[in-house]
Amino acid sequence: MGISVIGGGYVGLVTAAALASKGHSVIVVDTDEGRVNSINRGKSPIFEEGFGDVLSDCIRHNCLRATNNYHEILTADITLVCVGTPSNSDGSIDLSSITESAKDIGKMLGKKSEHHTVIVRSTVIPGTTREVIIPALEEYSRKKVHVDFDIAVNPEFMQEGKALQCFFNPDRIIIGEDKRAAGDVVEELYEGISAPIVRTDITTAEMIKYASNAFLATKISFINEIGNVCRKLGIDVYDVAKGISFDYRIGDRFLNAGVGFGGSCLPKDLRALIHASRKLGYHTHLLESVSDVNENQVLKMVQMVEQKLGNLRSKKVCVLGLAFKPNTDDVRNASALKVAKLLVEKGAVVRAYDPLAMPNAKRVLSREIKYCSNAEEAVSDCDCILVLTEWSEFKDESLYYGKMVFDGRRVLDPGKARAFCDYQGICW
Ligand code: UDX
Repeated sequence: MGISVIGGGYVGLVTAAALASKGHSVIVVDTDEGRVNSINRGKSPIFEEGFGDVLSDCIRHNCLRATNNYHEILTADITLVCVGTPSNSDGSIDLSSITESAKDIGKMLGKKSEHHTVIVRSTVIPGTTREVIIPALEEYSRKKVHVDFDIAVNPEFMQEGKALQCFFNPDRIIIGEDKRAAGDVVEELYEGISAPIVRTDITTAEMIKYASNAFLATKISFINEIGNVCRKLGIDVYDVAKGISFDYRIGDRFLNAGVGFGGSCLPKDLRALIHASRKLGYHTHLLESVSDVNENQVLKMVQMVEQKLGNLRSKKVCVLGLAFKPNTDDVRNASALKVAKLLVEKGAVVRAYDPLAMPNAKRVLSREIKYCSNAEEAVSDCDCILVLTEWSEFKDESLYYGKMVFDGRRVLDPGKARAFCDYQGICW
């Protein structure tokens, strides 16, 4: 099938490469010329383990290319909308890229005589496809949905670091359709991939994405809250998590207590759902608490340090880890970066090291932090060490000998660590 993908960001590019490697002919449309050139050279503009090779293979075999020209949509049978849906300052969803791309796709549909299917893969608040995207497509194409063109929703559930794996081995495939034929086109894209397929109407599919991310966020804040109580009791939340995990209704995933969740999806989607619900006249008590508990973990980490060191002014604090999780260079909404910022505000002298995320961290905190070239340099001559991302190289015990250590990600075994350093865990 001829496929065009709007948006060459994380979701768009990984989806495009996955479909291209399944034998489809894919064009990525992106307004950023630098990104387009980079993709066409086979150089991945995103960091994702192993993805560079997949992308360069697709480019070499001519099954994927990028352009900034929307006219190229005309050559495709399908357009996947993969543009970003960031947060506005009040937490609501910013739909400007969605609206712009719907107008541009609409203009192209107006020029096309063959049938076309638009598939919304971006995360959009329930109701957006019907109330925003379809009207814009109809207005700018002067065509009628379900008659002249079709539309479906196919939310992505790709975790950074294992995005291709998530695409080819999904837990489920969600297809939102208001017309059966539109959903059939999505199902065809996944031919050969074995996973339960759930077909719903469009708005339900949009909600499934938010409910999934909100539930994952809830699991993390739940275990962090239990962890905060465990710490007061002098017990280990990781033993408690193990104990509850054998109940198949609970399971063992997403129960790692620590300094909280970050990244480009969980915090943003949670806030957007809270905001959208409020607009509907419903107060999401639970979800607001999930968000509050998460923000509190960052404060807790810093309070732990203050309790031991007193006023942080001029204290030399080492931060290990800045990415929102290991194996990524992404610092968006990273708890680690929030902690580092708070330490700086409190007058601490912060030295930091992260194997991949320092270039991105420097864009947020440049002069305020001294960035070190390795973990050994970062931990030398400091009053305490905070571990904020669980990179495997931070498991090296020798980094911590004789030091005061605050572990926000359970990189060390507390029982062992107490023998060689002054160790405290955030929830254990
Ligand atoms: C997430 C969703 O998992 C994915 O399905 C969705 O489509 C995009 O958002 P991602 O942002 O890559 O993926 O991160 P994820 O692996 O889910 O982790 C999110 C955050 O939660 C990280 O900061 C991580 O450190 C934290 N986390 C995760 C915990 O604190 N404890 C856990 O047990 C699990």
